[in-house]
Amino acid sequence: MILLTGATGYIGSHTWLALDAAAMPVVGIDDFSNSSPEVLRRLAALGADVSRFAQVDVTDRAALAEVFERWPIEAVVHFAAKKAVGESVARPLLYYANNVGGTIALAETMRAHGCRRIVFSSTATVYGQPRSLPVREDAALEPSSPYASTKLMSENILRDVERSDPAWRIALLRYFNPVGAHPSGTIGEDPRGTPNNLMPFVAQVAVGKRARLQVFGSDYETADGSGVRDYLHVQDLAEGHVAALKHLLGGGDSLTLNLGTGQGVSVLELVRAFERASGRPVPYEIAPRRPGDVAAYYADPALAERLLGWKARLGLDAMCADSWRWQAANPDGYAGS
Ligand SMILES: NC(=O)c1ccc[n+]([C@@H]2O[C@H](COP(=O)([O-])OP(=O)(O)OC[C@H]3O[C@@H](n4cnc5c(N)ncnc54)[C@H](O)[C@@H]3O)[C@@H](O)[C@H]2O)c1
Repeated sequence: MILLTGATGYIGSHTWLALDAAAMPVVGIDDFSNSSPEVLRRLAALGADVSRFAQVDVTDRAALAEVFERWPIEAVVHFAAKKAVGESVARPLLYYANNVGGTIALAETMRAHGCRRIVFSSTATVYGQPRSLPVREDAALEPSSPYASTKLMSENILRDVERSDPAWRIALLRYFNPVGAHPSGTIGEDPRGTPNNLMPFVAQVAVGKRARLQVFGSDYETADGSGVRDYLHVQDLAEGHVAALKHLLGGGDSLTLNLGTGQGVSVLELVRAFERASGRPVPYEIAPRRPGDVAAYYADPALAERLLGWKARLGLDAMCADSWRWQAANPDGYAGS
């Protein structure tokens, strides 16, 4: 069985379905600090087996040990973390305790139970300001926020664990910008409060929850002056986890991989694509650049294709159409049900 931590979160819930479809039975844990039990009902309605779930804080060693004693866990996908960059600047200790503390407690419990396969949710923000594009896995590591530092520290901790016991195999997956939702429109990204990411903000403007989008910077050295990022459909990202698990469980070596499409998309391109997909206007205003933002940032995803045979398949139109289906059917997210 595969243990998903953060199983009811945005990426965890989509990965749960992808593993189910790949006939890989899931055990899910989450403390619901940033998700809702409603996700389990939605997953069940989509046909997923949610019979093995426990409400557990991943920093709680005793509760984690119970999970490993109750179910035979072959491998873990570790999603559970706090992920808001701004909040991490304001509350760094909370982020280090939860994200780094959670990784340590999980790795200790895995070791105690002889489980040595882990796929870890890392982030492209471990690279900081790119010196060249596209960003490859061997680019300089310069995390620019406490959040990004917690991810790089967790990567290093897991690498050191493998060094101390070469029977471990770890896959460090550095995601670029996950967006979109399951094509059913019944699960998706449900940010609490003001969205930190562009796509949910755009979706909330289109559905009428927010008056307009602020586009931070229109004078970058990009084709239309707005910032360029690498958006990746969450369904493709979920498949990336299935591929990484199959690789590790099939005896493959440890890996560190970018997961992105390799295509840069500007803020204004995304806005126009969303207007097409939704048939709704997305009013926006140009605002000053935000400190720390870079002009353009996109992955070189070639290594993931070479080592896992994984490649993103869904383009910007599918990302926008699926985000819109989710947003239109659930204007208040899971709280509205
Ligand atoms: N969404 C992105 O843009 C993005 C980009 C790069 C990396 N990531 C990483 O991917 C992972 C999943 O992100 P997501 O977008 O699904 O976020 P999310 O907040 O939707 O999911 C994370 C889940 O972890 C749970 N959680 C947090 N702390 C926990 C704890 N101590 N114990 C148990 N559960 C806990 C939350 O309740 C939530 O359900 C995170 O590790 C995140 O840092 C996300």
